[in-house]
Amino acid sequence: MSELDLDFVRGHFPALRPDLAFFDNAGGTAACRPVIQRIGAHLETSMVQLGGTHPWSREATARVAEGHAAAARLMGAAPADVALTPSTTVAFARLAASLGPTLGPGDEVVVTDLDHEANVGVWRRLGEGPEARPGVQIREWRFDEGTQALTEAGLRAVLTERTRLVIFTHCSNVVGAFHDVAHLASVAREVGARVIVDGVAYAPHRAVDVGALGVDAYAFSAYKVHGPHLGLLWVAPELRATLVSRNHFFLPTDTAAYPLEPGGVPHELAAGVPGIEAYFDALAAHHGDPDRAALFARIARHERSLAEPLVAFLRERPDVRLMGPATADEGLRAPTFAFAVEGMDASELPPRLDARGVSVRSGHFYAHRAVARLGLLERGGLVRASLVHTNTPAEVARLIDALHAELPRAPGSPGASDA
Ligand SMILES: Cc1ncc(COP(=O)(O)O)c(C=O)c1O
Repeated sequence: MSELDLDFVRGHFPALRPDLAFFDNAGGTAACRPVIQRIGAHLETSMVQLGGTHPWSREATARVAEGHAAAARLMGAAPADVALTPSTTVAFARLAASLGPTLGPGDEVVVTDLDHEANVGVWRRLGEGPEARPGVQIREWRFDEGTQALTEAGLRAVLTERTRLVIFTHCSNVVGAFHDVAHLASVAREVGARVIVDGVAYAPHRAVDVGALGVDAYAFSAYKVHGPHLGLLWVAPELRATLVSRNHFFLPTDTAAYPLEPGGVPHELAAGVPGIEAYFDALAAHHGDPDRAALFARIARHERSLAEPLVAFLRERPDVRLMGPATADEGLRAPTFAFAVEGMDASELPPRLDARGVSVRSGHFYAHRAVARLGLLERGGLVRASLVHTNTPAEVARLIDALHAELPRAPGSPGASDA
């Protein structure tokens, strides 16, 4: 028995089809109907400028404000502390540009070699290249090559009394393992550093509560959580007060929105954000879960049961090197499984699985530095099968069958050659 009523779940997604087993969810998830409906409603009746006194504008203003409020609730934050951006990449670019002027000679910024480049390059530019701030040093927190995890020891190796910013990922989009953000943030705070975290690969799987993490900024992408193509960026009030606004000089700076939303937001997309909550609320009500925490615990258990047979299959293959912990344990990882296959370029597998109605992806997934360090760039990077709660056990069985058929024959299996 599945933890989730998957007919009920999938009934919310017009894009999900029985003939296509979709496992590129870490790239982007299907949008749920409540989001689609709200975007459509805004386009139909509310496409006017915000902030006017007339009823039409008042309605449009209210819809966009509700988008901000819903984004804040999805992060466990106050609406004043959340900005909506075209993507998480843009969110971090704006945040880095706003924080850059606050850094000076001797200041150090810690970035990782595991993160998606969206949370690396913009920070590195503060200390390297033509836009560098004079005297700012970049230090690289290197992941552990055996486990592909960011560790406390790795952080301590680069932390100094001059560290001002520590920037890392809650969950790598290729490794899938969760980092203990609260603990790592507490280590960074020992030297008074501010902590900025990428939650993009975490948020589709677990409820986000920025208050519990002890960090200063956190972002994720709504389009990977069944929503519109937007980045959600939370900035703690103390950090927000130091930002140099990216917006017009006469606009207020007492919320995250104005300083970090130059030109505003795509109104109809912002208006769609409450649809994410409406979807999760419908799931919780249907399953009798008293709150979102209980619903996400249910989702985590469902993810585990989906992941178990896949992990068992991948573990059995001596020619497959799985990234991150070889477990389906929902406490340790998201069901995002990236692997390299001995003797096979990663780019070979997705088209073969396409032909079997199974969608996966290959490449470096913009975690370019990590995949390069693992020596896999020359072999097409990694194959990634990323699951989310809308997947079914039957789809996973189909994925396993397709892998079984398309991976090189495992040594020792019937018909395998010893060559
Ligand atoms: C872990 C991670 N961080 C950041 C990003 C960038 O997000 P966006 O596409 O919203 O810019 C991605 C996108 O795949 C990602 O997986």
